[in-house]
Amino acid sequence: MTKGGGRKRRIAILGSTGSIGVQALDLAAHLEERFEIVALAAGSNADLLARQVLRHRPRLAAVADPSGRAALEAAGRETGCALAFGEEGLLAVAGHPDADVVLAAIVGAAGLRPTWHALKSGRIVALANKESLVMAGALMRETAAAHGAAIVPVDSEHSAVHQCLRGERVEEVERILLTASGGPFRTRPLQSLAAATPEEALRHPVWDMGRKISVDSATLMNKGLEVIEAHWLFGLPLDRIEVVIHPQGIVHSMVEMADGSVLAQMGTADMRGPIQYALGAPERLRGPVPRLDLRSSPPLEFLPVEPARYPCLALAYAAFRAGGSAPVALNAANEIAVEAFLGGRLPFPGIARLVEEVLGRHRAAAVPALDDVLECDRSARRAAEEILAMKVLA
Ligand SMILES: NC(=O)c1ccc[n+]([C@@H]2O[C@H](COP(=O)([O-])OP(=O)(O)OC[C@H]3O[C@@H](n4cnc5c(N)ncnc54)[C@H](OP(=O)(O)O)[C@@H]3O)[C@@H](O)[C@H]2O)c1
Repeated sequence: MTKGGGRKRRIAILGSTGSIGVQALDLAAHLEERFEIVALAAGSNADLLARQVLRHRPRLAAVADPSGRAALEAAGRETGCALAFGEEGLLAVAGHPDADVVLAAIVGAAGLRPTWHALKSGRIVALANKESLVMAGALMRETAAAHGAAIVPVDSEHSAVHQCLRGERVEEVERILLTASGGPFRTRPLQSLAAATPEEALRHPVWDMGRKISVDSATLMNKGLEVIEAHWLFGLPLDRIEVVIHPQGIVHSMVEMADGSVLAQMGTADMRGPIQYALGAPERLRGPVPRLDLRSSPPLEFLPVEPARYPCLALAYAAFRAGGSAPVALNAANEIAVEAFLGGRLPFPGIARLVEEVLGRHRAAAVPALDDVLECDRSARRAAEEILAMKVLA
């Protein structure tokens, strides 16, 4: 029981070694009387996972890539924590019988099956892995409905919309306005973007995040993925989900209601805020997130998106409108493109060009089952690699 009399929320984390996962564990340490960590899963960073096991003493820890598991095995022996490996291990964490909430924070398509499994297990899913909704939004929603699972968004924008809509009627929502900082290249001369380096792209002006989402924020693909995510979460058509550039990152997103009233959620740019909200909802807990003081904040600006600077945003809208498997291809091509950019194989503007090429070759088809989605993901990745190998985008 907690001090407040309620039971502790028991949390499983998929992606505990990433930016979101580490921040969630920081919150759990601050709010030990409210949160208990029951299971953790990582990709390959077994050393960090071992330290997390020693600190948080979960009942189960899993790592997808079992090489370098010695430290983890030692931590397991010391704490009595059970260990599991490979995809089976991830699924065991996703469906852990003791978890009330599963934080889905694996990056990219790798998070799809574990997130789906958590929904199938009827858990509350605190969803950071937006890619799983982009790839398989309809399937995720159906699975959640069929198994009594709930999806609570972790993305700060969707958390903001979720908070604005508490007590509101969805039929009375006119538009969702997702805010975007514009990333590190918002004011950089367009002709110099070809020379942008990974280090520059990773230096986000507002948020401190993992590598892939940082690059996605520089291209605005992140916002494109979020527009699709917002559709699946809140049920609005895409022509009523708009993007506004807001460089200060204080208004986390807005909702315009039928009567013209605009609701906004604000806060400091600290991801622990939305993570805490998702883990504790509907309760609002007193956590460690710094308070917002608008008197000492910079003036708030709201600007239109420059389409020529951010071609990835239009590609995301187009892929969603093409329907079926097209968003799967969009996501897969983007993941390959971001990796290629970070690895020095593609210039920054090549990210959008590679995604466009893959979408241009893609024939959208229905993807009714998870295996169809995964097959489409693999074939779009192959197409992206083939185009990269031709070096036509360099
Ligand atoms: N960071 C943010 O502030 C933020 C904000 C909003 C939404 N999100 C979303 O949250 C998700 C996570 O982002 P992040 O920034 O936390 O990413 P990140 O720092 O790169 O961490 C990714 C996590 O996924 C794990 N992982 C990677 N590949 C895996 C695989 N094949 N199998 C199992 N686990 C794997 C990593 O494990 P290892 O490191 O052990 O390999 C790590 O724990 C993304 O979908 C992102 O869009 C992030």
